[in-house]
Amino acid sequence: MSTPDVPVRFADFQRIVFFTGAGLSAESGIPTYRGKGGIWTEYNYEDYACQRAFERNPNKVWDFHDKRRGFVAEREPNQGHSIIAELQRSHPDTAVITQNIDGLHGLAVGDTEPKHPIVELHGSLWRVRCDAEGTVRPDRSVPMSPRTCSCGAYFRPDIVWFEDMLDSRNIARAHELLQRCDLLVSVGTSGVVYPAADMPRIAMSRGAVTVEINLEDTPVSSSYQHRLRGKASDILAAMSI
Ligand code: NAD
Ligand code: APR
Repeated sequence: MSTPDVPVRFADFQRIVFFTGAGLSAESGIPTYRGKGGIWTEYNYEDYACQRAFERNPNKVWDFHDKRRGFVAEREPNQGHSIIAELQRSHPDTAVITQNIDGLHGLAVGDTEPKHPIVELHGSLWRVRCDAEGTVRPDRSVPMSPRTCSCGAYFRPDIVWFEDMLDSRNIARAHELLQRCDLLVSVGTSGVVYPAADMPRIAMSRGAVTVEINLEDTPVSSSYQHRLRGKASDILAAMSI
């Protein structure tokens, strides 16, 4: 496989922000949401990924999320995650804002605590919360057990579902990182879900160089200065040379 010719290289920048979506994890074997074989092409999110569905039938929602936990638990970070993690280690001002809930960025960076903690805009498959108690805790049990809190209420996945509000602290952290970066690299997102899809505009308005890595054009492609088409791992590798 010849290395794609890319106009932008990481070595020329100090404060890189990676804005990632499901396409980055596709090469780890994790289906995306909207592409061919995407999760929302197989499941109706209104039955599995919104608060109303959870209140209607928490066990049905947990069965769906346990299936995803079991699948994701057997997947590893791919070369794309590793390249980003290496930059987080070697260039501490590198930051990651992800829409992914699979935890692969965290696995890739391992025990090194990055200077900028990974911003998980849409939460994590590997955290659960009790809204009755207002508690959140890490949990990697597959299947998730117990499903109910000691207070008697069902735990729910600590994931931002459809019609949920995003955590305003995460939005604020993301905005701060985007306002100070000199290079923004969007990787594998369809750019159709807000407010996440709007975030790259912040970097553009502050004069950062902006790159969109995707297999195909998206509704937000025209906002990016460089639109690099191809597999995330191939293009990230080429930008690392
Ligand atoms: P929506 O159309 O149901 O309504 C919420 C709208 O308000 C969206 O545009 C949402 O992004 C926006 N919003 C949410 N919090 C906000 C905030 N703090 N400030 C400003 N705007 C805010 O939105 P949606 O597209 O159905 O989904 C809502 C969120 O849930 C999105 O971020 C989506 O990516 C996420 N989501 C996650 C999963 C998952 O499995 N992780 C599944 C579906 C949706
Ligand atoms: N390399 C680069 N891009 C890829 C690859 C790859 N190997 N494989 C797929 N893609 C691209 C697709 O072309 C598509 O544009 O990744 C994108 C995946 O888009 P989605 O499936 O919509 O995933 P994402 O953008 O992360 O969804 C945003 O919607 O349902 C919610 O909360 C959920 O976080 C998710 C949000």
